[in-house]
Amino acid sequence: MIKQANVMLDKRAVIADIDERIYGSFIEHMGRAVYGGIYEPDHPEADEQGFRKDVLELVKDLQVPIIRYPGGNMVSAYNWEDGVGPKEDRPRRLELAWQVIETNQFGTNEFADFAKKTNSDVMMAINLGTRGIDAARNLVEYCNHPSGSYWSDMRRSHGYEAPHKFKTWCLGNEMDGDWQIGQKTAVEYGRLAAESGKAMRQVDPDIELVTCGSSGSGMPTFPEWEAVTLEHTYDVADYISLHQYFGNRDNDSQNYLASTMELEHFINTVRSVCDYLKAKKRSKKTMMLSFDEWNVWYHSNEADEKLERWQQAPPQLEDRYNMEDALLVGGILITFLKHADRIKMACLAQLVNVIAPIVTENGGGSWKQTIYYPYMHASVFGRGKSLHTVSASPKFDTKDFTDVPHTDSAVVYREEEEEVTIFALNRHTEEDIRVHYALHDFEGYEVEEHITLHHEDLKAGNSLAQENVKPALSKAYTWEGQELQVELKHASWNVIRLKRRT
Ligand code: AHR
Repeated sequence: MIKQANVMLDKRAVIADIDERIYGSFIEHMGRAVYGGIYEPDHPEADEQGFRKDVLELVKDLQVPIIRYPGGNMVSAYNWEDGVGPKEDRPRRLELAWQVIETNQFGTNEFADFAKKTNSDVMMAINLGTRGIDAARNLVEYCNHPSGSYWSDMRRSHGYEAPHKFKTWCLGNEMDGDWQIGQKTAVEYGRLAAESGKAMRQVDPDIELVTCGSSGSGMPTFPEWEAVTLEHTYDVADYISLHQYFGNRDNDSQNYLASTMELEHFINTVRSVCDYLKAKKRSKKTMMLSFDEWNVWYHSNEADEKLERWQQAPPQLEDRYNMEDALLVGGILITFLKHADRIKMACLAQLVNVIAPIVTENGGGSWKQTIYYPYMHASVFGRGKSLHTVSASPKFDTKDFTDVPHTDSAVVYREEEEEVTIFALNRHTEEDIRVHYALHDFEGYEVEEHITLHHEDLKAGNSLAQENVKPALSKAYTWEGQELQVELKHASWNVIRLKRRT
C-alpha cells in the first residue's frame, strides 16, 4: 500500500514575510567563476563590456536578488585597489587562497555593472585577513560616498560618477579556518570586526553588516566562536553568517538526503547562541542570520588535488551535479523557508562554474545543472509569506540520523496575488508517497500546476549535449473542498501552485 503523509496549514499561521535575499548567490574570484564564467571578452556572445550574454540570461531567469563578491577565501588576501582603474595598470598577483594567477582585469566596478545587468544587489566582503580598518573604510568610501573625497573622486575618475551604494557588507570570510590567510582567534576577530564595522558605518551609516560565524557546524570551535565573537560584534552587526557544504561521500543516498537534519540543528544552535547574547547584553536587537555560503561540494575534490598551481582561471571546484544533489538542494531551501523569521539572506555558493548551477565552456555554450531547477523554482515562486505547517510523515533512520521524515514541505502564500505555492520533497528513494494537504481558509483556490523533478537514476546529471534532469508537469493530484492529495514520486522535488479563481 502507498505510504501516506499529512500536512495542515492555515493562511493566518505565518512564520514571517520571506526576505527575497534568501535566494542570493555568490561569485568569487576563483576557478572559472569570473574569467570564462560571467566575463569572457573574446567570447562570441560577449557584450560590449565582456559579459557573456548567454550567462546573463541564465542568471536573470534565476531572479537572483543579491550576489556576494569577491570572496570567499580569496578576499582574505585581496587588495581591492588592484581591481579598479585602467585595466592596463592592474597588477597580476599570486592569489594565495586558490594558488592561481589573478590578473585583476575584473574588479569592483565591473562587478557592479554585472549585478546591474542581472537586477541583483551586491553583498560585498572586506579583507580582514591581511588588512583591516583602513582598507575597509576606504573601500566603503570608494563605493558609496558621492564625491568630494579622495576615494570617491577616484571612483569618479574611473568612470563611475554615481556611487554604487552597496548596502550589505561582510566583515571578512571564515576567519576561524586554518586555511584562511590571516586566520584569527575569536577575540582577535571580534575586536577587529567590531572596529572595522564601526569605521565603515561612520563613512556610510546606511550599510548593513554581517559578522563571521563559524565556517561550518563541524568546526571544533563551533559554537564557542559565535558566542565569543558576538560579545564584540553584537552591537555593530545586523547578521551573523553561516556556511555549510554537503556531500554524499559514502554513497549512502538516504543518509545524504537526511542531512538537512544537521542543517536544522546548525540553524537552531546559531539562533540560540544569538539569543543568549541578546539576553546577556540586554539588547533590543535580534541578530538575523545570513546563510551566505551553502551547497553540495564534493564531486570535484579529487580533480582539484591534481591541478597545477599558478594557472589563470583553471577549472576549480567544478562539481557535476546529479539528481540526488538537486533533491538535497530542494531540502535545504525548504529548511530555509521554515526559518524565514531568522534567515534573511542566503547565498547558493556559487553561481557559475565553481560549484554552480550554471556551467559554461570557454568559448562555447552554457547549460543548467540539476540544482538549477529547485533553486530557480524557490526563487521565482517562493516570495511572499512562509506559512507554518503541521505535518505527519512516515519516518526512517539512517547511519547518522533518526526519525527523518520521508516527506518535507514548505508553503508560501502571496496574499495580494492570492497564490499559494507548496514546495515538497519525497526523500524516499524507492517508494512514492501520497501527501494529503488540508488547507484552511483557501476557498475558491484551484491548482494551477504541479511541477516535478524526478529521474529514476539518482546519479543522472546534465551536460551541454544532454539535459537528462529537467522539470515536467504532473497530473498526480486531486483538489476538492480545500483538500489537496498529491502523489510525490519517490526521490522527487515538487512545486504545487494554487491560485484563487475570480
Ligand atoms: O565557496 C568556496 C569556498 O568555500 C569559499 O571560498 C570559502 O569561503 C568556503 O570555504
